[in-house]
Amino acid sequence: MLKGKNILIGISGGIAAYKTPYLVRLFKLAGASVKVILTDSASQFVSPLTLATLSENAVPSSFVNEDDQGSVSWNNHVALALWADIMVVAPATANTLSKMAHGQSDNLLLVTYLSAKCPVFIAPAMDLDMYKHKSTKESLDRLVSFGHAIIPAEDGLLASGLSGAGRMAEPEHIMSFIVNHLREGQPLFGKQVIVTAGPTYEPIDPVRFIGNHSSGLMGYELAKRALKLGAEVILISGPTSLDIEDETIKVIRIRTAVEMNKAVLEYFQDSDIFIGAAAVADYRPAHVHDQKIKKESFANPHIELVKNPDIIAGLAKIKKHQFVLGFALETQDVLKNGTKKLKTKNLDAIVLNSLEDPGAGFGHNTNKIQFLSKKNGLKSFPLKSKSAVATDIWAEILKEL
Ligand code: C5P
Repeated sequence: MLKGKNILIGISGGIAAYKTPYLVRLFKLAGASVKVILTDSASQFVSPLTLATLSENAVPSSFVNEDDQGSVSWNNHVALALWADIMVVAPATANTLSKMAHGQSDNLLLVTYLSAKCPVFIAPAMDLDMYKHKSTKESLDRLVSFGHAIIPAEDGLLASGLSGAGRMAEPEHIMSFIVNHLREGQPLFGKQVIVTAGPTYEPIDPVRFIGNHSSGLMGYELAKRALKLGAEVILISGPTSLDIEDETIKVIRIRTAVEMNKAVLEYFQDSDIFIGAAAVADYRPAHVHDQKIKKESFANPHIELVKNPDIIAGLAKIKKHQFVLGFALETQDVLKNGTKKLKTKNLDAIVLNSLEDPGAGFGHNTNKIQFLSKKNGLKSFPLKSKSAVATDIWAEILKEL
């Protein structure tokens, strides 16, 4: 969730600031880029050098910025706010909370906060009576009304020697709060998605098979995009040279159409969205030879074929709430053939692509598609990278849902 994200941490002056370097470390380990800003009083609790070392970024504390060449700029805060995908204020003292709630802007942390358009997470920390005070509660309520998320202070021993609620949430808890919050806000949160991808190989003998040119790239991009949108993803893949780095995608590798069908049926009932991007062989050899066929053994060689199950069409009979999207790769009459498949396979929508369009279909990193839906009709897209096409397809599916 945090990989590749730009996280801006604001630290205000409370003893809990000694824990924030560990939070920086956790974010870095999760693959995020981190920048830190401190109020003056925070720098008495935790050193800018520690934070700069852990974040691998300079820690500004002033409105005015002087670069290596000696040129001076004053708009640090705007650049920092634009850079941030997420802002976290930890610890947020009563003073900083109150100033944030009322638009005060007398330090770099506050002006940056006021300039930030990204999600803001606030981890308050103070003594228990300050935390209970009506004015603190009012500040927190106002900050919630601005759309920010408050990471509740925790109970326990406080620096004053008193015990109660007011301790800044532990860095691990701050991190998991943010991850859960981001995940729950995603459009496919709680949805299970199945994507089939790649070709199937139908064996003739231990050496030979009937297959096709599908690389599987389109299906893999769709699976990766579904994960980014918050889904639980199962990728059922035929033989390809592709890999998925993210271990949160469950990858099931199969070779034949019959194996793919079995895997699909095992997971379909519990799924919400099915995307059949695989180029499934329509036929398989009726008999698979145990040994390699010798060319001398046939005067007039032929292979008898039997029909494979049409996996996606089979889902029509058991489908309940699921949204089912098929693909149609055609060499001619794309729209006519695609419209027919939408109906005969009882799909909710179908992605049409034509081998007649340069750069579309098999063997390219690009594709040119039309999205045809039972509910919303036809939408055409220009030639794009398969990753951009996956984004377009998911945008269409979300509209359908
Ligand atoms: O009929 P055609 O193969 O063109 O249909 C393509 C769509 O049907 C794709 O979504 C593909 O994954 C699916 N399909 C299938 N089982 C088959 C053949 C195709 O699920 N045996």
